[in-house]
Amino acid sequence: MTEPVPPTRRNRASLTYKLRYAAKNPDKIRPYLARTARDLKLRVTSRDHVAYYRAVMRADAAKSPEAAVGSPTRERWLRLGKMQFDYLVKHGLKPDDRMLEIGCGNLRAGWRFIDYLDSGNYYGIDISPDILLAAQDTLVRQELAGKLPHLTLVNDLTLRFLPSDHFSVVHAHSVFSHSPLSVIDECLANVGRVLVPGGFFDFTFDRTEGAEHHVLREDFYYRTETLTSLAERHGFTARFMDDWEALPHGQSKIRVTNPA
Ligand SMILES: C[S@@+](CC[C@H](N)C(=O)[O-])C[C@H]1O[C@@H](n2cnc3c(N)ncnc32)[C@H](O)[C@@H]1O
Repeated sequence: MTEPVPPTRRNRASLTYKLRYAAKNPDKIRPYLARTARDLKLRVTSRDHVAYYRAVMRADAAKSPEAAVGSPTRERWLRLGKMQFDYLVKHGLKPDDRMLEIGCGNLRAGWRFIDYLDSGNYYGIDISPDILLAAQDTLVRQELAGKLPHLTLVNDLTLRFLPSDHFSVVHAHSVFSHSPLSVIDECLANVGRVLVPGGFFDFTFDRTEGAEHHVLREDFYYRTETLTSLAERHGFTARFMDDWEALPHGQSKIRVTNPA
């Protein structure tokens, strides 16, 4: 009998993987074909990856904002947000931190950060107008307008409209898992400027220990060394967060720290 392939060695883009998966999950074939058709259409009609992914979010958020950020039920949306929040508080987030959340979505974790941080200290950015409208609904539902959070639509990750040496914490959950390397490179090239000396940036990514690959233009798999060495080239120290691995979440986490 052949050994099962560990998750981090799977290549979801390979034909063998797809055929095996289809045989085991026949109910997933139709949704996959629909996503493939959408992928083909959006590749042709979108000028770049951001436009492509914005269109994906538009379609997904119209069905359910919770599902669009990756949580099929409200209960899982709450649980996943709490997991991010608890981890970050355990790893140094303080109420007086000034926080930038990249790809804040509909504030799955963001509303907890806003509630915890001093007023005005949360800044969320996203490429999707549709999910930012859903983020406003979350703010209203959680009665957090008084904390004066900032929510801003962006077209890229140059962060050029934000001040230098301002944020002590930057957070991006399940964003680089949907990003080609050029987008991650742009982010790492610019985030150091807005971070204070000694400030840190935590991000999750879909990790592979095999070949780097992507599924459609939606899910991207990277080796840890690719991202840590990219961060080091941009002047950060980078640390793989081992204890995140123990949590029930499919992605891995890296913390990059600005020189003090
Ligand atoms: C899977 S959702 C996660 C949202 C949020 N971080 C959370 O944990 O609920 C990914 C989010 O990142 C946003 N996004 C994707 N690429 C982005 C980019 N290059 N810049 C900013 N936001 C991006 C998407 O629009 C979406 O809202």
